[in-house]
Amino acid sequence: MSCLEINGGRSLYGTVSVQGSKNAVLPMMAAALLNKGITVIKNVPYILDVCYMIKIMNALGCRVKYEQGTLTMDASCLTANELPLMWAGKMRSSIMLLGALIGRCREAVTYYPGGCSIGARPIDLHIEGLRKLGVTFLFEGDRIEAKAKKLTGAQIVLPFPSVGATENILLAAVNAEGVTCIRGAAREPEIVELCGMLNQMGALISGVGSDTLMVHGTDCFRDCLVKASGDRIVAATYLMAAAACRGEVMLTGAPSAYMQSSLAVLRQMGCLIRQEAERIVICADKAPLPIPYTKTAPYPGFPTDVQSQLMAVLCFSEGTSVIEEAIFEGRFNTAWELKKMGADIIIEGRLAVIHAGTPLRGTCVEAKDLRGGAALVIAGLAAEGRTQIQSCHHIFRGYAGIEFDLQQLGADIIADHGSSDCGTVNYGNDSNVNPGKSGFGQAVQMA
Ligand code: EPZ
Repeated sequence: MSCLEINGGRSLYGTVSVQGSKNAVLPMMAAALLNKGITVIKNVPYILDVCYMIKIMNALGCRVKYEQGTLTMDASCLTANELPLMWAGKMRSSIMLLGALIGRCREAVTYYPGGCSIGARPIDLHIEGLRKLGVTFLFEGDRIEAKAKKLTGAQIVLPFPSVGATENILLAAVNAEGVTCIRGAAREPEIVELCGMLNQMGALISGVGSDTLMVHGTDCFRDCLVKASGDRIVAATYLMAAAACRGEVMLTGAPSAYMQSSLAVLRQMGCLIRQEAERIVICADKAPLPIPYTKTAPYPGFPTDVQSQLMAVLCFSEGTSVIEEAIFEGRFNTAWELKKMGADIIIEGRLAVIHAGTPLRGTCVEAKDLRGGAALVIAGLAAEGRTQIQSCHHIFRGYAGIEFDLQQLGADIIADHGSSDCGTVNYGNDSNVNPGKSGFGQAVQMA
């Protein structure tokens, strides 16, 4: 059973380098399947979701090597187009492979994706968009069979800027004959990075960064080497920890340009922030100020992926704050765990009302999802006493060596990674890495 143990009440001081972006790397790995050759991605965090994706790619016949943060993928000859059920159901990003495999093989079989239980998380926008390109589907329980005699460019309008649906449609549309226009596309930085990689591989996508993407299809992709940006959500998480615990923290490798809305909220709480391109310094010398109202929104709005962490920080302010979660209807799970620590939080539909002022105390809590688990880490760091967090596999899906990073900042935190269900993943002939090894923090220890 994976868990974290924290003795809280310490301020945080020091410097931490931010890992590569999980949500940029995962769709980029799917894009590698389009190329009948070698694709290299640098700055890849060694997290469970990356391991799960590697398992899936291995099962499809793609050879993958992971070495010190660099993924080398050889998709010259794929041997299957069906994702293994046990891995497809582990994370949300497995659904991205549908678009890529349809693009490459014109047929694919996958299963309803897993991922954080933060709402219903339907895939109707993915399916409708792919249907517009000429894909037909057969659904049998959780099994999804997709086929396309031909992919033809289409006009697609997304009623909501779904990140995953935008990525999935892009991964198929780059193989379609003719031009595809995606209106209402998501504008997250991860979409910009995926478009940049696809264009480097030979696609022709314009409107990148806007809500209207024009995609000229191609049938020829080339080898490429890309570097993922720093993870803007992990960076925001560490800044939120400093705001809750006080202290002075410098982040290197942080994509500050992608973090404006999170930095604005930290400044609203009274933190001093200095930012350069890839470096952020936060100084927090008093309790965070309450924030009357914050609402999550698609990029560039305040990210839903930082909502739980903000809730944890506001528990250490003095006054009442309100957060509206406008993206996922089930993303307040962590409130119930924070209440076990003494937090006074009232949930009314999409609103969380935090009445802060009573100190939180350490106790035993359980991570319910990835970012909610990170929020419990923040609460444990700032609360007096010992906090034990169970089910930390949720956290290890997205944070590479979180305990090492926080120890580097002076936190009293230890981890038991348990027996990762990813086991020892073979990254090619010359290296095996056990994701359960707690030493993989910043540099993966090769077996
Ligand atoms: C991506 O999830 C991220 N995951 C999430 O990060 C992030 O919270 C989310 O985008 C929003 O920014 C990855 O990139 C791997 P959506 P995704 O499609 O693509 C509804 C994390 O913590 N919707 O933008 O699943 C959906 O229910 C994770 O790293 C449909 O209705 O998010 C939600 O209400 C958690 N139909 C809203 O859109 C669909 O077909 C946003 O979902 C698809 C989505």
